[in-house]
Amino acid sequence: MFGVIALLCLVSVSHAATAECEDLVKPVDQAIGLHHLEGRRALIASSIKNPAYAERFKSRDSASITFVNETSRISLIRVFSFNDSCQYQSSNIILQGSGFNFEDFNLTVTFLYTSCHDCWMMRFDNQSKELQRIYLFSKRREVEQKELEEFSAQAKCLNLPPPILMDHTKELCPERISREPTVQTEEKTEEQKA
Ligand SMILES: *[C@@H]1O[C@H](CO)[C@@H](O)[C@H](O)[C@H]1NC(C)=O
Ligand SMILES: *[C@@H]1O[C@H](CO)[C@@H](O)[C@H](O)[C@H]1NC(C)=O
Ligand SMILES: *[C@@H]1O[C@H](CO)[C@@H](O)[C@H](O)[C@H]1NC(C)=O
Ligand SMILES: *[C@@H]1O[C@H](CO)[C@@H](O)[C@H](O)[C@H]1NC(C)=O
Repeated sequence: MFGVIALLCLVSVSHAATAECEDLVKPVDQAIGLHHLEGRRALIASSIKNPAYAERFKSRDSASITFVNETSRISLIRVFSFNDSCQYQSSNIILQGSGFNFEDFNLTVTFLYTSCHDCWMMRFDNQSKELQRIYLFSKRREVEQKELEEFSAQAKCLNLPPPILMDHTKELCPERISREPTVQTEEKTEEQKA
């Protein structure tokens, strides 16, 4: 009898977790437009499936992203602080539904639900539509504990490893004014592999 009760309890707990997970990792329910993509956001945390990619990720001191619409194309500018220097990467993207695709590599990005008002929660899938990693960006350098906990719960729901947190005391690289693309081939390869 006791065993049956225990089992029933377990079943209802796992049902609750599944229902909660469904809500936690659902894509945003509107099509992403440029107005959603205004302003620069700093990287807060990431949860990464590929351990080798996670190691490379950890060598970055800080990172930020900005979207720009120039010459009728939208680019995602990523700025990394790494080994006391700044790296800039610009990639053309195509908005699609609740996210976007990169023009030059097969990665699909989907904006997921977040309760954080100034955050972007992004999910990256590879060309076989398999989840690779998730990122949390914010206008702030540091988010609230409950917002981090939500991100950890999302990672867990998606069976990803616990998030890697960025050190919010490390300075962000300056946003570059000129848009000379210095796309790093090495990074592109990394993106494709990861
Ligand atoms: C980007 O800007 C161009 C004008 O430079 C405009 O024609 C285009 O519609 C904009 N793209 C989006 C998605 O708003
Ligand atoms: C870090 O920077 C130093 C000096 O700028 C350079 O000698 C070193 O090779 C760099 N290390 C890496 C891993 O890029
Ligand atoms: C992306 O995937 C498609 C189909 O799977 C393939 O034809 C294309 O060459 C790939 N593009 C890149 C940049 O890898
Ligand atoms: C996509 O990711 C999965 C799991 O990480 C991997 O097994 C698969 O080979 C990847 N597909 C491509 C086309 O890179």
